[in-house]
Amino acid sequence: MTIIAVAGGTGGVGKTIVETLLQEPQHQVIILSRNEPKEDAILKQIQHVQIDYNDIDSLTRTLEKYAIHTIISAITIYSDENSQSQLNLIQAADRSNVTERFVPIEYSFVQTKALLPVDPSIQYWLDAAEMLHKSTTSLKYTRVVPGFFMDYWGMPRVRSNLQQHVFGIDIANCRAAIPGDGNDTLCMTYTYDMAKLLVRLLELEDWAEFSVVVGDEITYNQLLELAEEARGRKFDVVYDSVEKVQQGKVTVPAIPAGYSEEEAQEMTTLVSRLTISGAFDLPQQRLNSKFPDIHPVKVREFLKVWRDEA
Ligand SMILES: NC(=O)c1ccc[n+]([C@@H]2O[C@H](COP(=O)([O-])OP(=O)(O)OC[C@H]3O[C@@H](n4cnc5c(N)ncnc54)[C@H](OP(=O)(O)O)[C@@H]3O)[C@@H](O)[C@H]2O)c1
Repeated sequence: MTIIAVAGGTGGVGKTIVETLLQEPQHQVIILSRNEPKEDAILKQIQHVQIDYNDIDSLTRTLEKYAIHTIISAITIYSDENSQSQLNLIQAADRSNVTERFVPIEYSFVQTKALLPVDPSIQYWLDAAEMLHKSTTSLKYTRVVPGFFMDYWGMPRVRSNLQQHVFGIDIANCRAAIPGDGNDTLCMTYTYDMAKLLVRLLELEDWAEFSVVVGDEITYNQLLELAEEARGRKFDVVYDSVEKVQQGKVTVPAIPAGYSEEEAQEMTTLVSRLTISGAFDLPQQRLNSKFPDIHPVKVREFLKVWRDEA
């Protein structure tokens, strides 16, 4: 039995990975968290280990004490502090004499230096990859890349642990604000399908630097057609030109709960810029081909959840 720790397994993506690992009896799962266990029916089935990411020695001792062989990081990294937590965990894994593999937080597009002008926070992901690459004990690692999470176009109707956001097409309200001409390719994957492929990845001896998994490939124009078909009506649509997106003058389709108008504008601008830069058009070499028995859901099927919406 391999012992797998999910760091940040209490969060949206982390909990989905934990739930999926629970279906696989060959793995023992542990959650690493900064906090006390949450009152949660799924998470309370799992051993919860509270850790201090600022103390690398104690992190190392924890990894050795629980014989943690593989770490899957689901630590959200949007600030220096969060990024440092993951970097410290990588250092602890490198020092630990039981830990051999590390899946760093990624779960989006292929983060490259070339995209830094569009999104400077990509540096956090690059720092983690570089540290893993240089690990003295040659930790095995792979960067899991599923594109956009499909969940956003099914929420709140689909099962998902993510926080609800609307990107491009607001299916609940039959309207759309599409960046560019709507013909950029978006690779997307339902979180539970990514988690299934990630869990199967644990069976593989060799890990490539990138593990790209894709549920479906679509453009906003095609997604709009499918969404209109699912809702049985035409949507109100605006297109934000490339110039408008570059100037940050984007149309926000909906403000997510807990966000200010300014934050929603900032997030829409960032995601729109990434979309028109082709970031979600993922490489063709994909992990899916290694696991043909897994059939990730396609967008057309996924959108059926909207069929009976009044
Ligand atoms: N491709 C997409 O469409 C898409 C969409 C959403 C997310 N993502 C990716 O998935 C990542 C995770 O998203 P999420 O929604 O799961 O995030 P989340 O729920 O906000 O946070 C995940 C976990 O990170 C841990 N954490 C937060 N701050 C930390 C810190 N300073 N040090 C250590 N741990 C900390 C928390 O665990 P504890 O409190 O238990 O320690 C938390 O439960 C994102 O950063 C992004 O890379 C991609």
